[in-house]
Amino acid sequence: MTQSTPAAYQGPMRVVSGVQASGALHLGNYLGALRKFVPLQDEAQCFIFVADLHAITVWQDPAILAAQTREVAAAYIACGLDPKRAVIFPQSAVRAHLDLAWIFNCVARIGWLDRMTQFKEKSGKHKERESVGLYTYPVLQAADILVYQATHVPVGEDQKQHLELTRDIAAKFNNDFGAPGFFPLTEALIEGPGARIMSLRDGRSKMSKSDPSDYSRINLLDDADTVAQKVRKARTDPEPLPETVEGLAERPEADNLVGIYAALSGQAKAEVLARYAGQGFGTFKPALADLAVAVLGPIGTEMRRLIGDPAELDRILLDGARRAAETAEPVVEATKRLVGFWQAEV
Ligand code: AMP
Ligand code: TRP
Repeated sequence: MTQSTPAAYQGPMRVVSGVQASGALHLGNYLGALRKFVPLQDEAQCFIFVADLHAITVWQDPAILAAQTREVAAAYIACGLDPKRAVIFPQSAVRAHLDLAWIFNCVARIGWLDRMTQFKEKSGKHKERESVGLYTYPVLQAADILVYQATHVPVGEDQKQHLELTRDIAAKFNNDFGAPGFFPLTEALIEGPGARIMSLRDGRSKMSKSDPSDYSRINLLDDADTVAQKVRKARTDPEPLPETVEGLAERPEADNLVGIYAALSGQAKAEVLARYAGQGFGTFKPALADLAVAVLGPIGTEMRRLIGDPAELDRILLDGARRAAETAEPVVEATKRLVGFWQAEV
């Protein structure tokens, strides 16, 4: 049976993104990712999932994984995603991701994965002790994206290399299987003041869920007192804030706090400095804490309400998984035909 080559993707703008179901969400997740999803739901089809398959690349306690999955979904909705418009679902509930991931494992080259800096950072000196899943993690990520033929992926800075790999996989697949444009060359949406939020304890390392110190990050579920205390204890230097952005160059902690203020208030760093130049952290930190509480407080309240209603969250996630599969399955079917897998001809 001859198969016609599927047409290049020419549909509407499609957005895909995900956050791992691996514990408390923080300010970096909010500013680098979640906040960016919300306006996109007005202009594009959005598929926003909870990356539970990615989460288990490192150990996750089975007793709490499902609750962590619901918590990320609650954060999406609390930040303003509307489950009627955006498709919100658990990654593991749509098996098309895994079908495509295997095929992509056979397209991606070992040399490409060997260059992934996130694997090197996460595995440290003993990569032979890490799961194979942690190594092929970016291939699954490419499948997450391309199974929806996504055109745009809003993420933080740390995902840039994974998005480049996604494009490489799309291009190689299209070329190897003679299907120009079948998988789009997806664009990362990274720019913006919140793309790389740093730890409150060390302005040179990223704010991260895996940092052992809870004082390194502001969690979306922290109460107002905790937020204020974490900002107060954030590491700084003794100098007052400078007049210009250039003056922040060798001051990573000051730069980070000004960056957080700018991202939370929707201003440029220069505007923040125009207001606070010459003032010390004794003035700036309380202002930053108030701003963080004003923005994050209502999100935390709504998250708690949603987490208290798991049945409602489960209805949303089930409906999302069904809608996601409707888009993803035909893409997997077309991909399998291109690869030449057996199909009954009767
Ligand atoms: P993860 O928690 O690793 O699944 O990350 C979820 C999303 O948050 C991704 O788009 C990341 O790029 C983004 N993200 C994580 N940490 C930060 C950070 N410190 N600053 C900005 N974005 C971040
Ligand atoms: N790797 C991403 C992170 O840690 C999470 C993720 C998995 C993702 N699949 C994705 C993000 C697809 C965007 C698109 O942040």
